[in-house]
Amino acid sequence: MFKKAHDKLHQWYKVNGRHELPWRGIDDAYRIWVSEIMLQQTQVKTVLERFYFPFLEKFPRLETLASATEDEVLKKWEGLGYYTRARNLHKTAIICQTKLPLTEEELIKLPGIGKSTAHAIASFAYKAKLPILDANVKRILYRLFAIIKCSEKELWEKSYLFLDKKRSYDFNQALMDLGSSICKGKEALCQKCPFESLCEGKKNPLSYPQKKAKKNYSCS
Ligand code: ADE
Repeated sequence: MFKKAHDKLHQWYKVNGRHELPWRGIDDAYRIWVSEIMLQQTQVKTVLERFYFPFLEKFPRLETLASATEDEVLKKWEGLGYYTRARNLHKTAIICQTKLPLTEEELIKLPGIGKSTAHAIASFAYKAKLPILDANVKRILYRLFAIIKCSEKELWEKSYLFLDKKRSYDFNQALMDLGSSICKGKEALCQKCPFESLCEGKKNPLSYPQKKAKKNYSCS
């Protein structure tokens, strides 16, 4: 159904994708999970330059993290912010001990792992044919299909329909790269976008989704 879009995205990704990111091209679920949790609220550059490698050096395996104290984990997280992420990471390690679960249904039950993160881990570590729906992907879907307003459930349905089932790993990574370099929050570089000719929202990309009206507080 979306063959043309899939082919264009795949071509674009081959040339422009961030293939060198250390959590790509690996299938170590532990490392992928750590990267996904760090990347939930932090930019790639910060994670890459300051946190990912030192954390893995201190806690190279799930068992190492499980047997650490919470204070040790928090110490290594210092500066990254949103410390609930570190506490949940530690809790999950204690629950799982030696191996993360192999399915998104089990992953999602763990502290700190929501649906999109569960899908990202399953897609990247286990090559599951599942879509992800982080902020970048949501923005792309809103614009590509000119969606003004839509529930989370409907957006997931769209993401399942749109998924390139033959190349789901590359497809998911590619959408993340597209969202961070081309179809950006405050700017859309449509001339460089592989979806340019197909995008229903390209006339006014920044208008999707419709912003919620700000509450008008009266001073009087
Ligand atoms: N943000 C969340 N997951 C990511 C990934 N795998 N690559 C780049 N940015 C991401």
